Amino acid sequence: MDKENSDASSKPADLKVSIVCVISIQVVSVPGRLPGRRLPRKPIGKARPKKQSTKRAPFWNFQNKIILFTVFLFILAVIAWTLLWLYISKTESKDAFYFVGMFRITDVEFLPEHRQKESREFLSVARTVQQVVNLVYTTSAFSKFYKQAVVADVSSNNKGGLLVHFWIVFVMPHAKGSIFCEDCVAAILKDSIQTSIINRTSVGSLQGLAVDLDSVVLNDKGCSQYFYADHSSLRYPLEVSATSGQLMCHFKLVAIVGYLIRLTIESVQLEADSCVTDSLTIYDALLPIRSMVLYRLCEPTRALMSFVSTNNLMLVTLKSPYIRRLSGIRAYFEVIPEQKCENTVLVREITSFEGKISSPYYPSYYPPKCKCTWKFQTPLSTLGIALKFHNYAITKKGAKGCEHGWWEINEHMYCGSYMDHQTIFRVPSPLVHIQLRCSSRFSDKPLLVEYGSYNISQLTIKPACDVTHFWQPGPLVCDGFQDCENGQDEHNCTQSIPCTNKTFKCDNDICFKKQNARCDGIVDCPDGSDEDSCSCSRTSSSLHRIVGGADSQEGAWPWQVSLHFVGSAYCGASVISREWLLSAAHCFHGNRLSDPTPWTAHLGMYVQGNAKFVSPVRRIVVHEYYNSQTFDYDIALLQLSIAWPETLKQLIQPICIPPAGQKVHSGEKCWVTGWGQRHEAGNKGSPVLQQAEVELIDQTLCVSTYGIITSRMLCAGVISGKRDACKGDSGGPLSCRRKSDGKWILTGIVSWGHGCGRPNFPGVYTRVSKFVPWIHKYVPSLL
Ligand code: ARG
Repeated sequence: MDKENSDASSKPADLKVSIVCVISIQVVSVPGRLPGRRLPRKPIGKARPKKQSTKRAPFWNFQNKIILFTVFLFILAVIAWTLLWLYISKTESKDAFYFVGMFRITDVEFLPEHRQKESREFLSVARTVQQVVNLVYTTSAFSKFYKQAVVADVSSNNKGGLLVHFWIVFVMPHAKGSIFCEDCVAAILKDSIQTSIINRTSVGSLQGLAVDLDSVVLNDKGCSQYFYADHSSLRYPLEVSATSGQLMCHFKLVAIVGYLIRLTIESVQLEADSCVTDSLTIYDALLPIRSMVLYRLCEPTRALMSFVSTNNLMLVTLKSPYIRRLSGIRAYFEVIPEQKCENTVLVREITSFEGKISSPYYPSYYPPKCKCTWKFQTPLSTLGIALKFHNYAITKKGAKGCEHGWWEINEHMYCGSYMDHQTIFRVPSPLVHIQLRCSSRFSDKPLLVEYGSYNISQLTIKPACDVTHFWQPGPLVCDGFQDCENGQDEHNCTQSIPCTNKTFKCDNDICFKKQNARCDGIVDCPDGSDEDSCSCSRTSSSLHRIVGGADSQEGAWPWQVSLHFVGSAYCGASVISREWLLSAAHCFHGNRLSDPTPWTAHLGMYVQGNAKFVSPVRRIVVHEYYNSQTFDYDIALLQLSIAWPETLKQLIQPICIPPAGQKVHSGEKCWVTGWGQRHEAGNKGSPVLQQAEVELIDQTLCVSTYGIITSRMLCAGVISGKRDACKGDSGGPLSCRRKSDGKWILTGIVSWGHGCGRPNFPGVYTRVSKFVPWIHKYVPSLL
């Protein structure tokens, strides 16, 4: 760690404050030499001078002139030196060293008012602590460089008393920075706490404050730095890493006024726990103000990503307090000019895509307050504008606001959302006016849109699968994924054709078009080789299913989990491995719900509250394309803090994940289970685990019922409506038993529905077979 820091500090000047001052010192010499005459001696002895008997020499004689001139020169030199010194000390580049720290005051009881920064209680603690810390450092060896201490937060803690979080700032000339001993800063504070050996506790007196010595944390490990960037063509490196101890870094980045900062992250190493302990946060300010967060990273990454500030300031904080393997960041930042985001485009008559528009600062994440306008014009009134959104789609704006971009296209409003494929949007007008407003609170993923003209009259001949005016181009035919709602893209795929690298080959050398034929649950090869050895290793131990009953049998659904939020049942989930659960993204939507700390997972449970095993949740991974307006990509993975023990394997068992792209058959019977409400109008969940048998419903039928049902959703229910999931069952399993081997497959996840159990309104589930690679990305052990 220290090595890294010294490396960082020994980086060329590009890393540090770079105000270069060129000082030219002129040496002034007196012209000629002083004459060798002696000056008249001062009389010694009597105070009263003897009267001069001789005639006085004129005052303005040559000798006096020389003396006066010398005195004048001397004064001039002193003034020049003073001015020079003032100039040097003013313009000398200085480094600010920020330390973050905390300690526990043991004899003050925590009150809720302490949380409020304006409260008397907070202000009184802050004032006392600031005074004490001031006293400690102004009487230390660093008194010259000590600037101030600021109390940032006062919180409660398990050990009692108050936990006080503060910043300490030291400012020193750049040249002296290398002599600054960072460990000494912590040592000074700790050494100032006087503990008594007699009472053998770690609580001592810090200038009269009862402080627990063991609670003192004061650290920056040399990674709290202030960087001033004044060259727009340079890349300023930002690197720090450690393999043990802790990292609490604050990089303050300042660019020349009028410019912005672009931070490019090459890699980040962290413990992935949904930012509970480890995080990398980028702020659009110099202080960690929550409303100014540009982006927050909770997981390690090697993907190149960059972020742009909305001003000439940026703060990057890296928090990794318990390093187990490696924590750190490799990044660089640049000074960039502000970009205008508007354009007028004359589109040619080629009826294909001919150019691109993008979000500001593409390929960087776009900043939160952007606004772009584009005007398109085609040469003929018969040509409209086609827009191809990369991994993004726009849909008509509803009553709610837009989370990922607000679009106005020829006075119609749309909301944007991210997805895993391209979509095409057509505007049947030769003149198109588009406005994009970045509506997310944080920086958001960059957008790329291709544009071109298309023949408006062709609109009547919609592509077979263009239900909502956009479709997924590319290799969608016979890829095992039903993209068109009518399934047309997957028709006629298993007729034997000549073998190429784009065909699937059976063991008996017969080839056909379907690409994902392997283990999709359908026998395509005449010899069945596409479905050989596809079984997953887990089976349910339960053989006692009660068809049509409401209460399930104890132990019948060993993968069923109840997720409790702050102690109350809130959602369901399914066990898929020793430490991972699968649930619905909408259960974790919002600031409080996305934090894993208040959640506990209850496994091996039949009656609510009587779980065989309870574990806190360590990490929540919500699908990055989850759309809270449409419930698309409604899937989340949860990592348990404690893996369930092998000894409970009779009561807790994982359910199998379906093969990627597995097709389901309408009419197939499956089971939905959970502790949710038993009636739509009810307001409390069931104490006993409920089960209901439901039928998988034809996708086209479901689309005609609900409108937007994406290919990531599937519907299940009964025509009468009577059997369904309801509020509180979300995230729970839709379990289907595979006939071929009797294994239970997690076909769906309870997601949404119109009311509960209404006739003709089936339940909507997340289609798990669409997420197999995504699940394997986080849970490789399932492979
Ligand atoms: N969203 C609901 C929940 O939060 C589940 C709704 C399922 N509704 C239905 N009719 N199947 O628990």
